[in-house]
Amino acid sequence: MSLPPGFLDELRGRTSLSQVVGRKVIWDTRKSNQGKGDMWAPCPFHHEKTASFHVDDRKGFYYCFGCQAKGDAISFVKETENVSFIEAVEILAREVGMPMPARDPQAQQKTDRRAALAEVLEQAVRFYRMSLQQQAAGPARDYLQRRGLGADALERFEIGYAPEGNALFAHLAGKGVEAQMIIDAGLAARPDDGRAPYDRFRGRIMFPIRDGRGRCISFGGRAMDPNARAKYLNGPETELFDKGRSLYNHAPAREAAGKGQPLIVAEGYMDVIALSVAGFEAAVAPLGTAVTEDQLRLLWRIADEPIVALDGDKAGIRAGHRVVDLALPLLEAGKSLRFAILPQGQDPDDLIRASGPKAMQALLDQALPMVQVLWARETEGQSFDSPERRAKLDKALRERIKTIRDPSIRGHYGEAIANLRRGLFGQPQGRGQGQWQGAGRGPRGPGMAGGVIGGMGGRQGRAQGAPLPAMPSTKTSLLAGADERLQRRLSETIILATFIVTPAVLPEFDSQLARMECADPDHAQIRDILLGLGPDDDAADRVAQALGQDVLESVMSGPHVSICPAVRYAGDAEQARLTLREVFGKLTALQGLDAEIAEAEEEITGLADEAVTWRLREAAEARNRALRSQQEDKTSYEMGPNGMMIDKDERSAFDALLDKIGYSKPRR
Ligand code: UTP
Ligand code: MN
Repeated sequence: MSLPPGFLDELRGRTSLSQVVGRKVIWDTRKSNQGKGDMWAPCPFHHEKTASFHVDDRKGFYYCFGCQAKGDAISFVKETENVSFIEAVEILAREVGMPMPARDPQAQQKTDRRAALAEVLEQAVRFYRMSLQQQAAGPARDYLQRRGLGADALERFEIGYAPEGNALFAHLAGKGVEAQMIIDAGLAARPDDGRAPYDRFRGRIMFPIRDGRGRCISFGGRAMDPNARAKYLNGPETELFDKGRSLYNHAPAREAAGKGQPLIVAEGYMDVIALSVAGFEAAVAPLGTAVTEDQLRLLWRIADEPIVALDGDKAGIRAGHRVVDLALPLLEAGKSLRFAILPQGQDPDDLIRASGPKAMQALLDQALPMVQVLWARETEGQSFDSPERRAKLDKALRERIKTIRDPSIRGHYGEAIANLRRGLFGQPQGRGQGQWQGAGRGPRGPGMAGGVIGGMGGRQGRAQGAPLPAMPSTKTSLLAGADERLQRRLSETIILATFIVTPAVLPEFDSQLARMECADPDHAQIRDILLGLGPDDDAADRVAQALGQDVLESVMSGPHVSICPAVRYAGDAEQARLTLREVFGKLTALQGLDAEIAEAEEEITGLADEAVTWRLREAAEARNRALRSQQEDKTSYEMGPNGMMIDKDERSAFDALLDKIGYSKPRR
């Protein structure tokens, strides 16, 4: 449908974003300022306790400082109601009383047809459920009972029974549904020889499959006869059912995940149901196919770190590897996967039945980050007792990491892998690295057990289920000392405080401010408030209103801040410029080293490279110079508690890196 020019603008103008959003969130009244249309709430797009989701009602935009979700009323409805753009427009237009332009007839037809097909499927849901209650379904009811499904689960998952013969077709036809509609809905098929259509599902337990909006789009049917041709039969692709873009239990899982439950990706219907019944309600499954890219994207819209439950057998692990390969190129900041590996021969349904929900919880708690699955895949069951073998490993790992498109994530993976690699090669004693084993579980079946190992000397280790080396969560945690982080924080505070007392200089530094990466989330928010400041706005006021007086005070009253001349002489533009130039310079130097380190890490996983170490040394020198000039300049503020700190810190970060890449350094 094409909308007339200006339609969307008018719609946005008439819509109150805070009203639209207000239906989905609980405003933080302390932080919000309704009069100014400046509203804050815990983010509806990611799980959090604090209110980092900001709505600017006047501009009609929202932005989450936590997960970076952003957009306008239309995108908000689109995301939260899981509807298309045009459907979101329709919803909003209806609310503000704007008549929608006539749909183009073709699109209208398509919508009508899909609705009609969905209605046929809905009738089938009712028929199958009714059939489960009938005499002929005795064995089906017994089967469900044996599998531990109570009335509650049957109700919640609308489980039904497809009788033998052509019962559904006869039922629907009797209600006046056209044969072709029944076929197009995927419920019946027409034999090639032109005989009458027959039911696709016969003598099976039926699981309705619903889309993210709750509309029935297909069915899965499980045979009760262990010798049946196919244990599970899923509906065919139809106008409604796109297997690769659908997830079983999508909508209920999204809701549960929104309430903080971990999103679990299981293999099949029964697993999802067993998980839900056991209290893990945010469970989904693909539909008889391997997980697709589209499904991963759907999953990441629900949760940042879905947990993929893998069968503990070879096939399960292989499925896990496939998911890793699929996910690596798609990774974005904050989005990843974890892998929960089930005991050999058990799926979540089996595990919960055998060992209870606690056992499942324990597995979820031990779920492995993706990087470890990647690592295990390349190393498990192998020995690296020759330079050639180690080089081969490095190459394989590099190839994998290269597929990550996001450069910063690529850097983090490079680092994590380098770390694991050091654990493997750097310890002559040899340490068990049965990567697939969570703490406390023994070696698995043939082919998977047998740890990697050994030191340079070619010593053969044994898998012992030893705890995995800790994974640093950010690159700063590994390379930058606590002191350096402290210094950064200090610099940020001084920059922000200077702008707060002398906002007149903001326009001269705004691009530097915009680029400033803040170590502290409050600082990031202040930075953004400052960047959005109008010429007549009172900076301190805005910060206090948005974040609270205490946040403002904690910035302004830090010991290093209050003695800084640029803060002492509020409104003195010259003093402010001096300070800002200097502190920004220092921050850039600190961040510059970080960037170099991140880049170098990408190149690491193998060889120490003279050029890399040289570049790092250069960056470190530049930083040193910046820090020194800082200290020598008496007109500015005192930098750190003592001079030694900077040197020590800088060197240890640098040494850690050299060490990591195996560069034997001349002592300075
Ligand atoms: P599984 O064979 O692991 O079965 O198939 P399951 O989920 O444990 O089922 P139960 O416990 O035996 O009832 C996992 C998923 O693979 C698809 C289905 O989606 C199933 O849920 N599948 C399996 C098929 O599509 N067809 C089949 O013949 C088998
Ligand atoms: Mn099963």
